[in-house]
This record gives sequence, structure tokens and C-alpha cells, in this order.
Amino acid sequence: PQVCWLSPEQTAGKQKPYMYTQGQAVLNRSFFPCFDTPSVKFTYSATVKVPEGFTAVMSATSWEKQKDNTFVFKMSQPIPSYLIALVVGDIVSADVGPRSRVWAEPCLIEAAKKEYDGVIEEFLVVGEKLFGPYVWGRYDILFMPPSFPFGGMENPCLTFVTPCLLAGDRSLVDVIIHEISHSWFGNLVTNATWGEFWLNEGFTMYAQRRISTEVYGLPYTCLEAATGRALLRQHMDATGEDHPLNKLRVVIEPGVCLFLGVNPDDTYNETPYEKGYCFVSYLAHLVGNQSKFDAFLQAYVNRFKFQSITADDTLGFFLEYFPELKEKGVDSIPGFEFDRWLNTPGWPPYLPDLSPGQQLMRPADELAELWAADGLNMEAIEAVDITGWRTYQLVYFLDQVLQKSPLPEGNVKRLSKMYPKISKAQNAELRLRWCQIVLKNNLEAEYSKVKDFLHSQGKQKYTLPLYRAMWGGSEATRALAMETFSATAPQLHVNVQNYVKKILGLGGAE
Ligand code: BES
Ligand code: ZN
Repeated sequence: PQVCWLSPEQTAGKQKPYMYTQGQAVLNRSFFPCFDTPSVKFTYSATVKVPEGFTAVMSATSWEKQKDNTFVFKMSQPIPSYLIALVVGDIVSADVGPRSRVWAEPCLIEAAKKEYDGVIEEFLVVGEKLFGPYVWGRYDILFMPPSFPFGGMENPCLTFVTPCLLAGDRSLVDVIIHEISHSWFGNLVTNATWGEFWLNEGFTMYAQRRISTEVYGLPYTCLEAATGRALLRQHMDATGEDHPLNKLRVVIEPGVCLFLGVNPDDTYNETPYEKGYCFVSYLAHLVGNQSKFDAFLQAYVNRFKFQSITADDTLGFFLEYFPELKEKGVDSIPGFEFDRWLNTPGWPPYLPDLSPGQQLMRPADELAELWAADGLNMEAIEAVDITGWRTYQLVYFLDQVLQKSPLPEGNVKRLSKMYPKISKAQNAELRLRWCQIVLKNNLEAEYSKVKDFLHSQGKQKYTLPLYRAMWGGSEATRALAMETFSATAPQLHVNVQNYVKKILGLGGAE
């Protein structure tokens, strides 16, 4: 399952085949022999010979091309197995900063350069200021074929990203900031087991939003965090708050075969990200001073760099670093016990204050309110001008509309007509929400948009919610799900295929 072989039709350029690997969480064991656990770190080197007209790239600190189209890679820092990655394809590169370039198929390279020229370095510099030296040398970005199952994958020195990020307006740059943040949290300080995945993702969400606050300000960052909170709400509603995966510390049971126990890949849901973010924010709240907490994060990275740790190590170090908090017994405040954070499923006991984002959220809240009414007040609706809204304001607005759906008969049809900027959007985050709204409101006239979106890309976080919505809907949406899946299955990553099969009752493995 680790090595994905794509035919020319599955690439953007449709001329040459392509192969890529995805290691996280436990797939690299089918790529090369290794201790495939994040608790073991090692350096590596690799020699890769590829056919004429192809280029190989890897997550390595250095590489050189030798004769016979042979590439030699070296990773000189110790990393866990899941961070080893390889791509072979018809790819080219362009510089976008002093230590950064973008890689993509030739037909996408101009767009890739335009999207990120001159912006990456600032994120790296802010990251270094906050969390300490960037130890990986280069930070390059590789735009993957459309079926790549993730928004981004933090392969060291060379982040892999979905081509959906090429929105033309830099509006999805938070994914890049997220992957850059893994350079400290995840790639340097690593969760020792996949049961502690929140240590990677929760701290990375926190770091991402610290960098975003420095670069884009608090209101915008709070808006983005509010969309994350909406995702956590949707996830917990869908799975049930008490679901054992809605704990930060997950028990990964081996089971007796593939179909029993807990697959580490199942921990890839909103809980480690957004509940994890809340817990780290809670720690910052206990400290009560941003620069002191920033200093703690930097000391934490320095203390545990190149190691693999558990939450006990993190929290032990926190209490050691702030002895006055330890003395106050902050780890056992009733309702907020560290143990409860880690081991009790459900909604986070503490939510960071996102009110600095109100100036951006309020207009969206009010507009959603108007559209949810029986008998639309068109005068009030027309008085709101959304042409200048940021993408995340629209995303937030659509999440509110989705939450209130189904809307009274006819409203969504009108909404679609009124805002082609939304209903005909090319931006993937907007397309996802619009498709969700179309399905929840049974807007049959626009079902083809769901199909088109699922044909155009294979990101797991876009694909699964849409299949869940189709399968939970009408006879017609179920048929749409079956038809779309049989047409697109061969392009999907095998993990995503299996998850969709499970949703559609086709007997896919976990
Ligand atoms: N490391 C993850 C992707 C991942 C998680 C791959 C689990 C395999 C198993 C990556 O850093 C990530 O979190 N990507 C997010 C980005 C988002 C939170 C900004 C994604 O792909 O959605
Ligand atoms: Zn991540």
C-alpha cells in the first residue's frame, strides 16, 4: 500500500507515469525493511536509478545527480521511518526563496511559483524566532498529482502537498504554515507511538496559529481557528463524543488480524488536531503570558529534539519548567485534570478565546442567519456585500449555513444564484462546503458538482465527508455515490479507497 504507481492519465500533465510514497502512519514497512515505529530514529541514504526523462526526489538533506540518471540522497539528521519519502516523475523546480523551491509537473510549475514566490521564507524566519533553529537545511514544496490523499505531508526538507493549494490567491497557505510547523513539532520532537499522535498534530496546530498570528494578525488567525472548531464539532457529532478515538491518548490495540484492533491511520481525525490545539492553548492559558509560553515551547523543542516522547514527558517538562504551576497543582484542577484531557473522550473542557476574530465572523454569522429564515428578507441580504470577503470568511459562512441546513425550501437555490463566487468556486475548501450544502439540502440540480469535485481530486478529508453525506441521504444520492466511486476508485489512494468502501458497505478494511 505504500508505493503508489500512477498511470499518465492520473497525473496533471497526462503524458508520463508517476510514482510516490506515503509513509505515515505505518505504510513504510511495505517499502523497505525498517523498525516502522515513530519511537526509533535513524539517518539514511539512498541510491535511485530512474529512466531517462524522469527525476527522483526524496526527503533528504542532500542530493546529487550522477551519471545514468542515478540520484544519490542523504538524510544526515535522525528521523523516524514514517518521514522517508520518494517521488519519481516528470517534475521540474523553480526557486521561491533563499532556501526554498517548488517542485511540480511542468504544466503546473508556473502556477506553483506564482502561488508561493517570496512567502515561504517569512514563515521559516518567524518559526525560527519562535521555536529555535530550522535544522533541516532546505524547505522545498512538491505539488503532487490530484489523487494525493492529504492537504500536506511534512516529509523533511520536502513537504508534499495537494495541487488543490494552487488557488491562485494564496488563500490556502495555512496548510504550508502547518507543514513548516512540523519542522519542530513532529519531525524534531516526535510522538513515540501513534497513540500519542496529538503530540505531533496538536502542538503543530498551536505552532501554525502562532506563526499565523505573527504574520497575518490575531483576527484572521482566530477566524481560521473557528473553522477548525467547526470541524471538531462536526466530527464529534458524527462519531459521538464518547467514541474512544475522541481521547487525546488513544489505545492502539494490535488485534488479531487487520480487521480487529485499532489501525493507527484511524487516529487521523479532528480530535488530535483541534482538541490537541485546545489542550496546548490551555497550557498557555495556565501560564498566562504569551512570551513565557513561547519561551517554554522553544525550551521544549531544545530539550527533546531528535527524540521520541510521550505526553508524560511533555507534561512532566511543563511542570518542571514552571515550578510555581506545579506547586499550585495545575495538573489536578477539578474538571481540567491533565489526566482527563488525555484519557476522557469528548468535547474539550477548555476552549481558547476566539473573540478577536469576531469582526470577521460576525458579518458571516448574521448573513447565515438571514439565509436560514423562512421567507427571505432579500433587502437585508442584498445589503451585505461579500465581494471583499476572505476565503476563510466564506468558509465560515458556509459552515454556518451547513449547520442550519436543510434550509427552508428554495433558499439554497436562491443562494446559489446570488453568489456564483461560492456556488461556482474553484477553491477546494469552498467547493467541499458547497457540495456538503447541496447534498444536505437535496439540491438535485447541482449534484453534478459533487461528482465533478470527487473526480478532480482525492484528498481524504474532502472525499470521506462527501461519501458519508451521500450515503446518509436519499436513494438518488446513494446512487450518485456508487456511480462516482466506481468511476474514481482506481485513482484513489488505497487507504482512501478502503475507507470509502467501508462507508458504502462494500466490505473495505479499516
Ligand atoms: N502529517 C499530516 C498528514 C497525515 C496524518 C498523514 C496522518 C498520514 C497520517 C499532515 O501534517 C497534516 O496534518 N495535514 C493536514 C493539514 C491541515 C491540518 C492544515 C491535512 O492534510 O489536512
Ligand atoms: Zn500535521
